[in-house]
Amino acid sequence: MQFFVDTADTNDIRELESMGILDGVTTNPSLIMKSGRDFKEVIKEICGITKGPVSAEVTAIEADAMIAEGKNLATLAENVVVKLPLTWDGLRACRALTDAGIRTNVTLCFSATQALLAAKAGATYVSPFVGRLDDIGQDGMQLIADIITIYENYPSLTTQVLVASIRNPVHVLDAARMGADVATVPPSILKQLVKHPLTDKGLAAFLDDWKKTGQKIL
Ligand code: E4P
Repeated sequence: MQFFVDTADTNDIRELESMGILDGVTTNPSLIMKSGRDFKEVIKEICGITKGPVSAEVTAIEADAMIAEGKNLATLAENVVVKLPLTWDGLRACRALTDAGIRTNVTLCFSATQALLAAKAGATYVSPFVGRLDDIGQDGMQLIADIITIYENYPSLTTQVLVASIRNPVHVLDAARMGADVATVPPSILKQLVKHPLTDKGLAAFLDDWKKTGQKIL
C-alpha cells in the first residue's frame, strides 16, 4: 500500500520524504487555508520536495471552469494530480482532463456507486472519506471493501482506491488488510503508527541493562 500524507505543511512533508516513507501528498482547500500560504506557491514547493503525485484541488463548481483550473494547476509541476469533487460536473471535468493526459483524483466520495462512476470517467484515483462516514454513524471501511470488490469485478477499471479522511491507525491497518492502493494519512496519525507500549517498555529495559554494563559503543 502506498502512503500519501494529507497535509500542506511542507516541514512535515520534507521530514517524511527524507525518511523514504512517502509516496505522495494530498491537499484540499481546508488544508491550504490551515497552512496560511499561497495555494500555487505551496503546491510548487511540495512538488519540489517529492516526486510522488501531489493532489491540488480545483475550486470551480462548473465543468468548463474546473477543466480550465485543472489545466492551469497541471502546469505547476509534472507531478500535480488534479483533484475534483464527485459531482456531475466534476465527472465531466475528470473525463476531459483524463483525455488531455492529466491525472485526476476524484474526491468527496461517499458511496460505491459514486466510485463506480469516477472509474468510468477515467479517474486516476478515487478518494472515499472513511472518517466522515464514521462520524455520521456509517461504516467507512465497509465502503472501501465494497469499492475494492466492485473494481476487482471489472479489471478494465484501473482507478486506484485512495483511502481518505483517515482518523486513526486502525483505519490504516484495515485499508492495508483490504488491499487498498493508497492511504492518505495526516502526519499526526503517521507518527502514531510507530507507537507501541511494549516497544517503549522494551527499550527502557535494554537501556537500563546497558547502563549497568558500564560500556559505550563510541
Ligand atoms: C483527502 O484527500 C482529504 O484531504 C482528507 O483526507 C479529508 O480528511 P478530513 O475528513 O479529516 O478532513
